[in-house]
Amino acid sequence: MPSSLVTPGDVLKIEQVAHGLKVQTVHSYVEVLAYSPSIIRVRMDKNPLGKDFSYAVVAAPEKVATTWKESADRILFSTDSLDVVILKKPFSIAFYTKEGKLINEDVASMGTSWIGNQVTTYKQLQPEERFIGLGEKTGNLDRKGTGYVNWNNDSYGYAANADPIYSSIPFYIGLHDSLCYGIFMDNTFKSDFNFGASNNRFSSFGADGGEMNYYFIYQKKVADIITDYTALTGRMSLPPLWSLGYQQNRYSYYPDTEVLRIAKTLREKKIPADGITLDIHYMEKYKLFTWDKKRFPHPIDMNKELESMGFKTTVIVDPGIKVEKGYPAYEDGIAKDVFIKYPDGNPYTAEVWPGWCNFPDFTSQKGRDWWADKVRFLAGTGVDGIWNDMNEIASWGNKMPFNVLFDYDGQGATTIGAHNVYALEMARASYEGAKKSFKERPFILTRAGYAGLQRYTAIWTGDNRAEDDHMMAGVRLLNSLGLSGVAFTGMDIGGFTGNPSIGLFARWIQIGAFTPYFRGHTAVNTKSAEPWTFGEEVTEISRNFIGLRYRLIPYIYSNFYQATQNGLPLMRSLAIDYSFDDKIYDTRYQNEYLFGPDLLVLPFESKEKFGEAYFPEGIWYDLYTGAPQKGGVEKILKLAYNKLPVYVKGSSFIPMQSLVQSTQILPKDTLILNIYKGNTDNQYTYYEDDGKSYSYQSGDYYKRDFVYDHENNRIILKKAVGNRNSIFKSIKLVMHGFDNKDHFSIDGHAVGFKKDFVALLTPISKFDPQGVANPLEGEDVLSHVIRNVSDEIVIDLK
Ligand code: NOJ
Repeated sequence: MPSSLVTPGDVLKIEQVAHGLKVQTVHSYVEVLAYSPSIIRVRMDKNPLGKDFSYAVVAAPEKVATTWKESADRILFSTDSLDVVILKKPFSIAFYTKEGKLINEDVASMGTSWIGNQVTTYKQLQPEERFIGLGEKTGNLDRKGTGYVNWNNDSYGYAANADPIYSSIPFYIGLHDSLCYGIFMDNTFKSDFNFGASNNRFSSFGADGGEMNYYFIYQKKVADIITDYTALTGRMSLPPLWSLGYQQNRYSYYPDTEVLRIAKTLREKKIPADGITLDIHYMEKYKLFTWDKKRFPHPIDMNKELESMGFKTTVIVDPGIKVEKGYPAYEDGIAKDVFIKYPDGNPYTAEVWPGWCNFPDFTSQKGRDWWADKVRFLAGTGVDGIWNDMNEIASWGNKMPFNVLFDYDGQGATTIGAHNVYALEMARASYEGAKKSFKERPFILTRAGYAGLQRYTAIWTGDNRAEDDHMMAGVRLLNSLGLSGVAFTGMDIGGFTGNPSIGLFARWIQIGAFTPYFRGHTAVNTKSAEPWTFGEEVTEISRNFIGLRYRLIPYIYSNFYQATQNGLPLMRSLAIDYSFDDKIYDTRYQNEYLFGPDLLVLPFESKEKFGEAYFPEGIWYDLYTGAPQKGGVEKILKLAYNKLPVYVKGSSFIPMQSLVQSTQILPKDTLILNIYKGNTDNQYTYYEDDGKSYSYQSGDYYKRDFVYDHENNRIILKKAVGNRNSIFKSIKLVMHGFDNKDHFSIDGHAVGFKKDFVALLTPISKFDPQGVANPLEGEDVLSHVIRNVSDEIVIDLK
């Protein structure tokens, strides 16, 4: 063996420690610890293991019942959920189900090994093994045969298959033989993942330094793996309701009169919207924590005026603080010694928008506190959201030196170890600052990040291109982020670089309505890209689809609530619910996803006249016409320019409200509860609170479960819990897929559901250039209004 390659060698010593085992081998030190019955942590190093520290993991190990026994050639370490087999000669690890099925194993001869400081763990490729997730990564849903690098990178106008781009989430899910598992390698160094690329033996994960430190998660369902992963790395907290509305952006809207013109035009054109986002030109020569006095002489008044029109303001912040004598943020940063430095003590200086800049050390408490305090300035000018940009760190030249020093929360690190967490910690500082100084829940957005970013911030996919394949790549990026614990995600609708065709913008805004963070954005040198700039027809399509999103707010907000509880994303790759259905990985179908648990979105490129679709098992209903569609079926759909195909799952509940122009406006007082006939059981949690404060933490919410009990042929709207009254005074039950032969009784009394023509789910009219009232498509359904919005209601379907 070449002397530069170090493998662990044979086991020398085993010792029981809290939560697991400590193992010493000829060349390494190992810990195998149970964090829960389904989560095992493996730590390995050539040197004795150092201080345990993580920017990603916030959970401590639970008290887990474990057993272990040793024989001549192996150690068996068990929890109630899985068995870990450690082979002794040489050291290697394998994970088995309690039934003895192999889930995952080291390549025995390779295991974990080092080349210099570079450490890699090699896992035997299993027959037909697939790999999904790994965060913001381009490529196919099934990553088999490809390799990736994690090194946060400013990726202006990136190719649809570029790697790496902005973020690092070293967590993926493997699937084979009806088994699935997750591996999270918590290491902030540049890392490398190989899913059987250029080899047919192994998948591997490794890093340029630090310990091998990975969490192995075994669950029967992909959804439960995501829930476990987010138990480790944390979940998002409830976003402000306004951040679910449409956000209008460009690089950049200025002066203030232009910002107000955009806001007024949205209102005049009846395109619902909640947010205006200000890019770098709001600042005085791009200097952080300033407003340009000429362009924005009265930011407080402007933000008040926006507020009175139902708009919230999000402003961009970059990490670079301009080096300029007399500039308060710079002077203060130097005085308080918050900037990252070279080993000789000189601050690291690089060029970005404002010119030469220094950069706060967000990996130190001091740096984060300093920044959090600065955020008060934004709060004082009436800002509601903070958009963290350029935090890879981006600078001209895009080649940050490796010898810059970071505090790394007392551990000390160079660029090599700290680069990938810089953005995470910047978002954290913004979040913590905003939580202290904003009156209401803040909205935080970031471009780059590391595992766990969901605790502080939403993320968007940076500088994409106005091209069809980029739109589809964007869908996959968001789906992959969802698989990796990040629920609140978005992409620049319409594309950042270049000018979208009319058709592309029309399709993108339709898809955008079914993404968690819904923002139109475009670069500085492009044509205007507000919905109305693409002509009357696209204005109407935008109005329809943005309007549909606003009607879906009760559904979307409830889904966000669920993300705060179980970590499941809003945008769900079909790999979450149909993990072992080979069809969903077919590249023809891999872009399909569920928005929330029940809406099946089929995104197609704008040029396509026909689209190949796959309907997974179950019963589906066309969202617009209510027409039923059998599952387990491949089908060619005729596509309409103005109608993104969306289907609803059988047995589901889709709560909706009347159309509003902003989430700041109360909808009509009837909740429209759409119920779709199905042949499976289902349970859905409906949730409301004030959408802005933290009072939900002390019980100020309204929450109830809706149960579709197929076996007993009934639907139960469970009693509401929480101290809050619903904003709705009645609930209109709208029954889809049922017919007059179905008999309903509510709480034991026969009820006549009246036949109703419902156009509520119908965003689309035939385009009518004369602007005459549009004939709505719609479906005949049965509906019934109930006035009791809090007690349990049982609807029998016999
Ligand atoms: C880069 C960001 O990705 C983009 O969205 C923004 O418009 C520009 N920086 C200018 O701030």
